[in-house]
Amino acid sequence: MSIDLLLGLQWGDEGKGKIVDVLTSGYKIIARFQGGPNAGHTLVFNGKKHVLHTIPSGIFHENKINIIGNGVVIDPVILRNELKNLEAEGIDYKKSLLISRKAHLILPTHRLIDAASEKSKGKNKIGSTLKGIGPTYMDKTGRNGFRVGDLEAENWTEKYSELKSKHKRLIDFFNVSLEYNFEELEKEFFESIKSLKSLNFIDSEEYIYQEQNKGSSILAEGAQGSLLDVDFGTYPFVTSSNTTAAGACTGLGISPNSIKEVFGIFKAYTTRVGSGPFPTELFDSNGERMGKVGNEFGATTGRPRRCGWLDLVALRYSCQINGVTKLMMMKSDVLSGFKSIKVCTSYEYKGKKIRYMPYDINDNSLKPIYDEFEGWENDITKINDFDKLPMNLKKYISYLEKELNIPITIISVGPDRLQTIIV
Ligand code: GDP
Ligand code: IMO
Ligand code: MG
Repeated sequence: MSIDLLLGLQWGDEGKGKIVDVLTSGYKIIARFQGGPNAGHTLVFNGKKHVLHTIPSGIFHENKINIIGNGVVIDPVILRNELKNLEAEGIDYKKSLLISRKAHLILPTHRLIDAASEKSKGKNKIGSTLKGIGPTYMDKTGRNGFRVGDLEAENWTEKYSELKSKHKRLIDFFNVSLEYNFEELEKEFFESIKSLKSLNFIDSEEYIYQEQNKGSSILAEGAQGSLLDVDFGTYPFVTSSNTTAAGACTGLGISPNSIKEVFGIFKAYTTRVGSGPFPTELFDSNGERMGKVGNEFGATTGRPRRCGWLDLVALRYSCQINGVTKLMMMKSDVLSGFKSIKVCTSYEYKGKKIRYMPYDINDNSLKPIYDEFEGWENDITKINDFDKLPMNLKKYISYLEKELNIPITIISVGPDRLQTIIV
């Protein structure tokens, strides 16, 4: 039985959480495969908003299994808060949430290294979420990491202390001033470990393999977006994991030939939070309007998101790297009321017109070249039938489908679960 993937195609926050929630009814298992609590996945239903950071977005549905895969990095403190929120909603996660023993843990000192590293970079900082993501993946690939399965050993605190001491020396090495109360950080960490240990740990690759053999349907939920991929994103302004389709194989232990659909999700425009290049970024009233109408504030850090027009060069690149089979366009409603809408189709770069992402898009000489479309006035947030969408929006959709040569199968017209047009 095959596995479907859902991935963000831009710089994150495309609306992955919302669509995973919408699609969950069609699957038995939802599995996160990379990233950690740098993610903020928002779900809105029954008039209420829920934000998940580590837990897969299928958790609100009954009789489903949600797996935190080996590729994810877990901060037990943040996970415990998420679990508390679920308890308040009356969600019984004890049986439905499973954790890979091979997932790595974010320790309090990982967060401090993240902060020290960012501070030492000054104006060249990545704009990290300060959740300790980079340092935790560094320990993973450096073969020093602390895994969920390590907690099952009686003397796990020894391993923890060893790593902590190493980290403390590293923090000193950065030689920057940081304000924190380590005793408090450690206290909440140890308390949270208790709550983590009350969950079910599994050998997730084996579990998933057995479920595949039983014919169970599985949806893998990506975090971040392709342009934040550590290999293919706008390096070094990226996150520390493979956010692209290949990351699902290593992050869950599934084989490439077991993947069927690759759902690529994108906003009808573009946003980015944190530092780094963004060729179509707007600094005018159009950008301001996108931010305001789209309520573009980070779900994890609350930082305002930078906004700009849709970048087809980047989108084409993401579709190519992921092998996207179906597209989903989010936040179409935010573009209502714009007199005209622009789409970047190519870049002017070193005196030439190019249609691909060059090695260094940090280069200031790169300029977007736009196509322009007539906008639409109508409020589309209550429309649930494709045929009833404004003509100019339909034109925009069919233009994008033609340019990318991939069908757009979902059009989202608002944050709520129900504001979703399935074509
Ligand atoms: P994710 O990280 O990809 O899950 O996305 P986020 O949750 O960080 O950000 C998406 C934001 O847009 C959230 O606040 C959603 O509630 C909201 N959202 C999702 N789809 C739509 C949509 O179609 N229209 C509008 N206006 N908001 C949406
Ligand atoms: P979701 O899953 C948007 C960005 C940060 C920063 C860079 C590196 O909600 O789409 P990190 O903390 O990973 O070291 O930060 O990546 N970033 C995100 N931006 N959405 C996310 O996740 C992000 N996760 C990380 O802002 O620029
Ligand atoms: Mg988000």
